Amino acid sequence: MKLTFQTLHKDHALAILNWRYTPPYDFYNFNADTVLEDLRYLLDPKNAFYVILNSLGELEGYCSFGADGQVPGGDYRVEALDLGMGIRPDLTGLRHGKYYAQGVIKYGADRYEAQLFRVTIAQFNKRAQRVWQKLGFEQVEEFSKISSREKFVIMTRAV
Ligand SMILES: CC(C)(COP(=O)(O)OP(=O)(O)OC[C@H]1O[C@@H](n2cnc3c(N)ncnc32)[C@H](O)[C@@H]1OP(=O)(O)O)[C@@H](O)C(=O)NCCC(=O)NCCS
Repeated sequence: MKLTFQTLHKDHALAILNWRYTPPYDFYNFNADTVLEDLRYLLDPKNAFYVILNSLGELEGYCSFGADGQVPGGDYRVEALDLGMGIRPDLTGLRHGKYYAQGVIKYGADRYEAQLFRVTIAQFNKRAQRVWQKLGFEQVEEFSKISSREKFVIMTRAV
């Protein structure tokens, strides 16, 4: 099924804020106590969020290009396009991750000038790492997030 990408609007944001992943992926759930702040964050053009829609116009995921994809503590001195992605909880674990990631890569390459793609992923999240690895991304760094000490990995691939 063909995917389309659009700028993320308020209705999309409100749906996404209510998505709930099951453990251990509940790490990615938005917090019910910070809805207004998170809404502003998702809608801020600086954060470059887009929705991923199926051919019926249904929301299947979202992605971001740029600063949103970075985690404090990582080494981001090399210029690269940071990619972020989240798929609707009921669509995860179905072996479709590569398909969505391919769409994000293509959209990012068409829209932004970049020589290098970069993703930053929680170290425990082997499922997400596997998706990007299958698309040629390689781990270049492992670090602890400033303040929380949670471990993350950075993976890159030439565009
Ligand atoms: C990360 C995400 C895009 C992955 O997409 P997905 O459709 O759920 O993942 P898939 O079902 O395609 O699985 C990807 C691979 O991980 C493997 N995998 C699944 N669970 C795994 C686990 N616990 N450990 C190791 N590998 C695992 C799958 O077998 C598959 O590999 P294979 O094709 O070689 O068999 C999606 O789960 C998501 O958006 N989650 C939201 C929260 C999140 O993880 N965010 C990080 C975004 S980068």
